[in-house]
Amino acid sequence: MEQFIQQIEEEFENRFGQNYKLIESPGRVNLIGEHTDYNDGFVLPAAVDKGIYLAINVNGTNKCRFYAVDKKEAFETDISDDIERSDLGWPNYLLGVVDQLKKHGYDVGGFDCVFGGNVPIGAGMSSSAALEGGVLFGLAELNGWDIPPVEMATIAQKAENEFVGVQCGIMDQFASLNGKEGYALKLDCRSLDYEYFPFNRDDIKIVLCDTQIRRELASSEYNVRRQQCEQGVETLQQWDPEIKSLRDVELSLLLQHEKEIDSTIFKRCKYVVEENKRVIQACDDLHQGDFHSFGQRMYQSHVGLQLEYEVSCKELDILVDIARSLNGVFGARMMGGGFGGCTINLVKEEHVNAFTDQIKEQYNDQTGEEIKVYKTKVSSGTHEINRAEVTSE
Ligand code: GLA
Repeated sequence: MEQFIQQIEEEFENRFGQNYKLIESPGRVNLIGEHTDYNDGFVLPAAVDKGIYLAINVNGTNKCRFYAVDKKEAFETDISDDIERSDLGWPNYLLGVVDQLKKHGYDVGGFDCVFGGNVPIGAGMSSSAALEGGVLFGLAELNGWDIPPVEMATIAQKAENEFVGVQCGIMDQFASLNGKEGYALKLDCRSLDYEYFPFNRDDIKIVLCDTQIRRELASSEYNVRRQQCEQGVETLQQWDPEIKSLRDVELSLLLQHEKEIDSTIFKRCKYVVEENKRVIQACDDLHQGDFHSFGQRMYQSHVGLQLEYEVSCKELDILVDIARSLNGVFGARMMGGGFGGCTINLVKEEHVNAFTDQIKEQYNDQTGEEIKVYKTKVSSGTHEINRAEVTSE
């Protein structure tokens, strides 16, 4: 890890000089509450010990100069006027933040940034949110802007919505920026009130199984699901005009009108209404330290995502089925937007090695393909790293 950060530091020093801040911005897992954030619902994510690392400094000009260590690509642009999107793709996550800061009235000048990560790209662990949050946090620190946590998350989300052009909810940016070591974060995506729940049992590990499948479908279908939820709300409003989003819908109302609702829309709505309930109940489980019950809700969440919300895929389903049959597993489900990426598994510490070997082997037997397995730890949200500590380690 230290070596990895030192590489970023060296690149910065060679390109831009000795003065900079070093920022760590984590990826996230989501324990439960999938596709609920854009329905004004509840989510239970946590920041993890894999993320994006950035060396960043203001440069006193109107130019931004970036270098992506993993891609070995450099990018430079003038930010005095309207900011243009880059065809390279990755600079847009940084430029989107600049664009939003300007729109929020912050006087953003030129800056230099070198970054790299150890969070797998496209695996559903929110590398993009980590990058956006990292740049935002770095710029706020360098400029002495005191931006409250909730506003930080909304600026980063808007950067992604408006500049990158992905209509994501707020979960990823919020979790990456505001995570806390040893705690999961329950977020009410309507009020943006949040609460930390201890998640620090040494005997239980969060293990991710990465199908390594990255599908374009994910973003187009994501937008379709959002529209279907909106359509659901419109339909349901005729029976209860108070309904503003699926967050407000009672299961009984939905079931009462099942015959009158388009069957696909019905399935989508039912999943979201039930998933919101599961998040609340899962938080009670955490309070009581009942991981068996928590794990069962993870399995239920997966079934809903598979059969009702229809954002899973064969490979994710196979991984969850294998996990169910292995010893020491409390629960498993697909994580993130879907159609590929990872499953999240809660596994008893003493079973983690056997779990890893067996799930790799059985998946390979069934599909002929390989998975990657990552063990993660619940860690702090975006923060500055003390440079002296990195070099003295
Ligand atoms: C992606 C989005 C999040 C959320 C999840 C699904 O990760 O970025 O906002 O909607 O999908 O829960």
